[in-house]
Amino acid sequence: MKGYQFITVLVAVLGIILASSLSAQPDKIVFDPLKLFGKSKRPGVTLSHNRHVEAGLSCKDCHHVYENGQNVLDEGQLEEGNQGVRCSACHGPKVRIGLEQAFHDQCIGCHTRLLKEKKKTGPRFCGQCHVKK
Ligand code: HEC
Ligand code: HEC
Ligand code: HEC
Ligand code: HEC
Repeated sequence: MKGYQFITVLVAVLGIILASSLSAQPDKIVFDPLKLFGKSKRPGVTLSHNRHVEAGLSCKDCHHVYENGQNVLDEGQLEEGNQGVRCSACHGPKVRIGLEQAFHDQCIGCHTRLLKEKKKTGPRFCGQCHVKK
């Protein structure tokens, strides 16, 4: 292989690696309540993206952009580091549902709904999400 061909292939491969790592969601998100709320009454929650996606949920079950009541989120926007993905980008400043309620309604709401439907689900009690370290 000639030098420039090798460089071209190398650049292409690096591009693919970069693109896939950008679009992929991080496995574990460790929330820092102090940063999010300026207070920390409970230990920070850890969310495993992978567990949730492997359980068959789609990105849009949790991530949304609403227009006329429809979730019109373009999944291409779900990139690591995109501040607009953060719940705090809208909840609190722009949307009447506050940030703490947004988290609780979404997380506990879905776990409770799935429990009622007798499906595999997640925890509903404080200490099971706010796990002491
Ligand atoms: C299904 C998971 C889940 C359950 C169950 C849950 N929470 Fe939370 N809670 C969260 C998430 C996620 C946040 C936002 C991230 C963080 O603070 O770690 C949060 C944030 C909070 C906050 C604001 C941050 C802080 O530490 O001051 C408080 C207070 C809180 N929860 C109290 C409770 C209490 C009390 C219960 C039980 C009645 C409870 N939570 C049950 C997931 C949960
Ligand atoms: C069970 C709910 C849930 C599912 C399903 C889910 N996410 Fe998330 N995701 C979250 C929460 C909650 C956050 C944290 C938001 C915050 O920090 O305010 C997050 C954060 C992110 C972030 C931002 C990470 C950063 O830079 O801080 C990306 C990117 C992301 N998700 C992509 C995805 C993609 C892609 C999928 C589908 C394959 C997906 N998510 C499925 C709940 C979910
Ligand atoms: C781009 C802005 C935006 C982002 C980012 C966002 N939301 Fe929302 N969210 C909204 C709007 C707008 C509504 C509708 C409010 C209403 O009906 O008045 C809403 C509604 C909700 C509701 C009510 C039930 C529902 O789905 O309609 C919950 C719970 C919620 N959001 C949680 C979250 C969580 C958790 C995150 C982060 C993973 C998040 N939101 C990210 C704008 C946003
Ligand atoms: C749309 C439904 C849905 C939403 C929203 C959701 N979950 Fe879950 N959660 C599930 C399901 C289904 C499971 C079972 C997954 C399994 O057992 O593999 C689960 C399992 C869990 C578990 C136990 C497994 C583990 O990772 O340790 C925790 C903790 C958890 N969820 C936290 C959260 C938090 C925190 C949020 C909000 C940020 C949230 N969940 C939002 C459906 C949901």
